[in-house]
Amino acid sequence: MIVLGIETSCDETAAAVVAADRRILSNIVLSQLEAHEPYGGVVPEIAARAHVEAVDGVVAQAMSEAGITFSDLGGVAATGGPGLIGGVMVGVMTAKAIALAEAKPFVAVNHLEAHALTARLSGTASGEAVAFPYLLLLVSGGHCQLLIVEGVGSYRRIGTTVDDALGEAFDKSAKLMGLGYPGGPQVEARARDGDDGRFPLPRPMRGRDGCDFSFSGLKTKVRQTLEALPPGPFSDRDIADLCASFQRAAAEVLEDRCANAIEAFRAHCPEAGALVVAGGVAANAYLRDRLTALAAAHGLPFHAPPAYLCTDNGAMVAWAGLEQLRRRGADKLEFKPRPRWPLDPNAPPAAFAGVKA
Ligand code: KG4
Ligand code: ZN
Repeated sequence: MIVLGIETSCDETAAAVVAADRRILSNIVLSQLEAHEPYGGVVPEIAARAHVEAVDGVVAQAMSEAGITFSDLGGVAATGGPGLIGGVMVGVMTAKAIALAEAKPFVAVNHLEAHALTARLSGTASGEAVAFPYLLLLVSGGHCQLLIVEGVGSYRRIGTTVDDALGEAFDKSAKLMGLGYPGGPQVEARARDGDDGRFPLPRPMRGRDGCDFSFSGLKTKVRQTLEALPPGPFSDRDIADLCASFQRAAAEVLEDRCANAIEAFRAHCPEAGALVVAGGVAANAYLRDRLTALAAAHGLPFHAPPAYLCTDNGAMVAWAGLEQLRRRGADKLEFKPRPRWPLDPNAPPAAFAGVKA
């Protein structure tokens, strides 16, 4: 089976074609970075309009690079939420239109589930599929969660952020330092020459019970650190040292929270498992190295999709669509886009978490 996947939930217009044997036949990602850059973040109305303008062309390119026509498809998948609702509507309506015109199954994919299942598409280092169950650290611009992935559509959330997502903390800290948007890749690049011991930054939640996260205090301390520097433009050295100090603090928080999660995961699934990381922040090579070492210390295999499949893309949506089609079949064309769509509907909302729960 071959599935077309469409992703429009944030600031990437993306489409990809993926086959059931895990081959990615095409993967087109059109970033709207330039449109949002002057505002230092994603403007929902600008994003929605840009998706309307770009989506047809991106889908056409994905189909032609895959060398197939709509009639070859086994299904059409689109991100149905959570995300910026104007953008989600564009992707969902496009997928429904293709599905209706070509009489193909339509699948509405949960964006978080698409991130969560990406490691099963990319596989292990030796090329095998990653098997259920696994422990997932999902770290993106909108979410920071620890989940036990039991199977397609079956998630147990054991931790979440009580305030900012980690990608948001990267982006907001980068903005304070005068770096561009999105901040994650810029902070990672600047941190490479930095002294990660120069600035004392907090490690929020470290040492506490449970698997929840908090990052707003870290961002606040970045602001205070910058305010305490001598007046005038920041030096490259100051920025590199602050980026390195920030990244190290973030890594140490992730390690602490993941260590607790590994314990909880082992109690729940004693037989098998792996630690998997996904979402845009998982593209960060420094954090991946630290998590690789953590998993090894706990005797768990570690899997991370390649960086280009960590940030938003259509291949992860096509793959999740494929897995869903195999497991529970198509969705109705009456499906309504969902601005909120938790992976674990039974998880209690985290205190103060607002939309990020
Ligand atoms: O998964 P994603 O593309 O979109 C959401 O679903 O949110 O994640 C975007 C987030 C942004 O906050 C971005 O700064 C962060 O992922 N990010 C990174 C890196 N690349 C992207 N954060 C740290 N290091 C990176 N290399
Ligand atoms: Zn995402």
